[in-house]
Amino acid sequence: MHRMLGMSTSLIAVLLTACGEAVEPPAPPPAPPTYHRDIAPLVQEKCGSCHSEGGIAPFALGTYEEVFALRGAIKGAVKARMMPPWMPGKDCTEYLQDRSLSDEQIALISRWVDEGGAEGDPAEAPAGVSVQSGGLSRADLTLAMPTEYSPTQTPDEYRCFILDWPETAVRYVSGFRGNPGQPSIVHHVIAFLAKPDEVAAFQALDAADPNPGYSCYGGPGRPGNTVSWLGSWVPGSGGADYPAGTGIRVDPGSKIVLQVHYNLSGANAAADRTSVSVRLESSVQKVAIMQPWANPNWIEGDNMPIPAGRADVRHRFSFDLVPVLSQLTRGVFRSNEPITVYASALHMHTLGTWGRMEIERRTGGNDCMLHIPRWDFHWQGSYQFTQPKVVKAGDRIAIECHWDNSLPIAQDVRWGEGTNDEMCLGTFYMTQ
Ligand code: HEC
Repeated sequence: MHRMLGMSTSLIAVLLTACGEAVEPPAPPPAPPTYHRDIAPLVQEKCGSCHSEGGIAPFALGTYEEVFALRGAIKGAVKARMMPPWMPGKDCTEYLQDRSLSDEQIALISRWVDEGGAEGDPAEAPAGVSVQSGGLSRADLTLAMPTEYSPTQTPDEYRCFILDWPETAVRYVSGFRGNPGQPSIVHHVIAFLAKPDEVAAFQALDAADPNPGYSCYGGPGRPGNTVSWLGSWVPGSGGADYPAGTGIRVDPGSKIVLQVHYNLSGANAAADRTSVSVRLESSVQKVAIMQPWANPNWIEGDNMPIPAGRADVRHRFSFDLVPVLSQLTRGVFRSNEPITVYASALHMHTLGTWGRMEIERRTGGNDCMLHIPRWDFHWQGSYQFTQPKVVKAGDRIAIECHWDNSLPIAQDVRWGEGTNDEMCLGTFYMTQ
């Protein structure tokens, strides 16, 4: 090897050619990146869905002037991986519709900023900007909030609305998308499924509030219980089809409880009428369940203490659900037969710092489903794995949450749905 280092590059080239390898001519020093050639396509693909006129982000990044003026903040935000908002850590598993930037893309943006932020020539713009793949392929049913609602609290308001489910036969939801009425203020949408026997409890909450819908924060507001999720949506997403051949069963007489998170930090309040669209099937190969996951003892036993003054409070729960699947799913799945898990989400409130869901394998080792290294209540979502994960009897599904409750004004905190309570709730999408 030492001798090789001394050889001239042309001799190495000859040797490589003799071995049949392609030879690259020596690369010229890279030209400074330009806006039109390098940056605009990237910003359009990765930032444009939010940073456009009327989008959820407080400013547009659509022109050279706009991007150049904010180049320092852009470099800071992408290097810190604050933008684009993408919560899962890189060390866990791979997801569909991953909108994070690669290390190379972050380096390119940084270099463009460091080397002066040249505009370049619009003619250099590459043809056909790539667009994020995915999206809901078919909207069979669109359900809107019963009336318009204009948020009154700043900067954040969480409001639940009950939507009628019009289908008269059993249907399976095989895809989901949120359609914000006012994209500049709708920060996220979560649809909970109220089964026929759960509807009355939600209607009572709605009836007790004189304005449209009712105030709800960590969930749909039904105390002491976890309610199934039907789907969730965050800005910048075109929705998603659920894995092929699967769907969530919805019985006639069910309702959808739609939680809308309004955020007024970038725009003024306006009358909003958000809707959700779903793809429907009359039958599916595999019935899916979006399973909520938490220690029942945290909820029913009020046993998730987060004492004041502690900077890293941890709670973890793991459980082998396969032997009790029949009870857990009210007979939809058979006990002791493996399940397949396709997607997962994690939910805490604002004291949350980081969290994780994983499969503790019976054979040893953990298989990561979701790791959120820097929890941000503002950016919650569900993440669909590129490769589904099979869970067998003896494997345990684990959830772990960490909180910082060390502020001087801190009070003891426990499980609950209110702004001053906390949660450690996972969900995962599974079939058998
Ligand atoms: C999913 C929507 C979304 C996407 C995608 C997105 N942003 Fe943002 N961005 C926001 C919102 C909303 C804010 C306002 C602050 C907040 O709520 O986090 C923001 C704030 C910012 C800020 C100001 C941060 C600060 O210091 O306060 C910068 C800079 C920024 N975005 C750059 C980008 C860039 C560059 C991209 C693409 C590489 C991008 N964003 C992609 C929604 C988005």
